Amino acid sequence: MNSKPKVFVTRLIPDAGLDKIKVACDAEVWPEDLSPFYETLVEKVRGLDGLLCLLTERIDGALMDAAGSQLKVISQMAVGYDNIDIPAAKERGIPVGNTPGVLTDATADLTMALLLAGARRIIEGVNYIKDGKWQTWEPMGLLGADLRDATLGIIGLGRIGKAVAERCAGFKLRILAHSPSATQEEAAKVGVTLVDLDELLRESDFVSIHAPLNDSMRYLIDRDALALMKPGAILINTARGGLVDQTALYDALTSGEVSGAALDVTDPEPLPLGEPLLTLPNVIILPHIGSASRRTRDLMASMAADNLLAGLRGEPLPNAVK
Ligand code: DGY
Repeated sequence: MNSKPKVFVTRLIPDAGLDKIKVACDAEVWPEDLSPFYETLVEKVRGLDGLLCLLTERIDGALMDAAGSQLKVISQMAVGYDNIDIPAAKERGIPVGNTPGVLTDATADLTMALLLAGARRIIEGVNYIKDGKWQTWEPMGLLGADLRDATLGIIGLGRIGKAVAERCAGFKLRILAHSPSATQEEAAKVGVTLVDLDELLRESDFVSIHAPLNDSMRYLIDRDALALMKPGAILINTARGGLVDQTALYDALTSGEVSGAALDVTDPEPLPLGEPLLTLPNVIILPHIGSASRRTRDLMASMAADNLLAGLRGEPLPNAVK
């Protein structure tokens, strides 16, 4: 008889995590490129001891109930967990794990790529050539924004926000942050001045979002917030698409209320091809690749496996969502 715990892994993840799981568990791994549909997942979780999931799956109370009371742990291979009903997991006594820390640098690096690409109109330049428009060196062509002495506003001074601040110090930006849980002292350590959100939006040439998504944060950047931003400002989002009202963003970009947006995350994901934001030359949109470096994904998979295995053993998770 197989006494190994039964687990379901909702997608193929790096061997750095999967190998550990396969040794210790009776594991089924969803083999498709796309996540299982919710209804399929409900069937797959029945009788499970542990679930390893991704940010692309909705994990709610009904799914936990479908799994059964023997479900010992839900381990998410991501730092964000807005797809999981945490109160429902708490009510049922199911610990939820996530993968903080290991993707900080990769996400901060991608934020810098978006900041620079937005400021210096990199994608527009690439398309300019591909569209056959490049005829000569142009004294007035594709002019962008300087970083030196500009102001960056960071919304959410957690691990990633701080890592962005550290990188931006090298570019000689003035850095503001809005982060209710941060202290002046920790902000000062990374060269940041804490301000309220309105002041940040009014003062910043670049606004970069690094906050978690929850009900109170949905559409944090709405029409009113966009109206406060400088006309030349660029919005960068590597956190979650739901933090920004995309319809309002489209209107602000087309009316010139803000000058550009560089987004690694959207709402929904994937973004339908008919999405109006995709038609704008001053918008860069990436397919949620903030943590997509080889080492980072190995570390995320390994950490998610460690959380899963600890939960199956009935031990505290190395990284549990509080
Ligand atoms: C996370 O871990 O929440 C990231 O969004 C994945 O890139």
